[in-house]
Amino acid sequence: MSRRKKIYEGKAKILYEGPEPGTLIQYFKDDATAFNAQKHAIIEGKGVLNNRISEFIMGHLNSIGVPTHFIRRLNMREQLIREVEIIPLEVVVRNISAGSISKKLGIAEGEVLPRSIVEFYYKNDELGDPMVAEEHITAFNWATTQELDDIMALALRINDYLSGIFAAVGIRLVDFKLEFGRLFEGEMVRTVLADEISPDSCRLWDAKSNNKLDKDRFRQDMGGLSEAYTEVATRLGIFKDPNSALEA
Ligand code: TMP
Repeated sequence: MSRRKKIYEGKAKILYEGPEPGTLIQYFKDDATAFNAQKHAIIEGKGVLNNRISEFIMGHLNSIGVPTHFIRRLNMREQLIREVEIIPLEVVVRNISAGSISKKLGIAEGEVLPRSIVEFYYKNDELGDPMVAEEHITAFNWATTQELDDIMALALRINDYLSGIFAAVGIRLVDFKLEFGRLFEGEMVRTVLADEISPDSCRLWDAKSNNKLDKDRFRQDMGGLSEAYTEVATRLGIFKDPNSALEA
C-alpha cells in the first residue's frame, strides 16, 4: 500500500493513484467522525461495510443510467473509481425531518416533509460546511447553472430510486448527502455522482420501530454502529449470512 501515491486523505477515506490514467483507488477507513471531526473513533469493520454498501448502491445507480465515479470493488476496503474534479458542495436530500432541519426550523423529528427538499452546503471544513443558496453557488463559480440543474435532477432521481430500494427491505430513507464531480472525457465534461453512499452519509430508520441504522448511533453515543450497518447490508442482500460480513 505504501508503494502507491496517496492523492488525498479525508476523514473516512483515502484516495490513491489508480492503475490507469483517469482512475483512482478509494480506500475506506474505519474512522468515524462527527461534528466536523470534533468527535472521532475507530469502529472496527466500518470501512469494510461502507465499501460493500456503497458498491451495491453505486452499482445499482449505474445500472439505471445514473452516472457515477464507481467502476468496481477491488477488495475488502478498496474500490476502483474514475478520477473526477469534486464540485465543492454537499447536496442533502430530505424526506423526513431529522438532524439539522429539525433543529433549525423546529420541525419535530420524524415528521414527513411536504415534499422532498434539496439543500446545498459549501464543502469547506474550516467554515464548518455552511448552508448556501443557488445564488452563492453560481456567483462564486462553485458550479454552473447547468451543473446545478444536473445535480438537482440526479439528486431527486437517486432519492426516488433509493427510497424504493430501502422501502423494499423495511427501511425508511430519512435523508442523505451526495457529492458530485466533473468527469472530463475529451472535450466533454459530465456531472457524475462521486464519494460514497453508505450509512455514514444517510439516515436510515427501521420502518417498524424507527430504530436508527446509521451514523446517528455514533453522533448520539448510542453504540451498536457496526451491528446496525451489518443489518443494512444483510437486508439489502449483500451478505447472505451476517457472520460473513467481514469476508471479502
Ligand atoms: P444534517 O441533518 O446534520 O444536516 O445531515 C443531513 C444528512 O447529511 C444526514 O443523512 C447526514 C449527512 N451528513 C453527512 O453525510 N456529512 C456531514 O458532514 C453532515 C453534516 C451530514
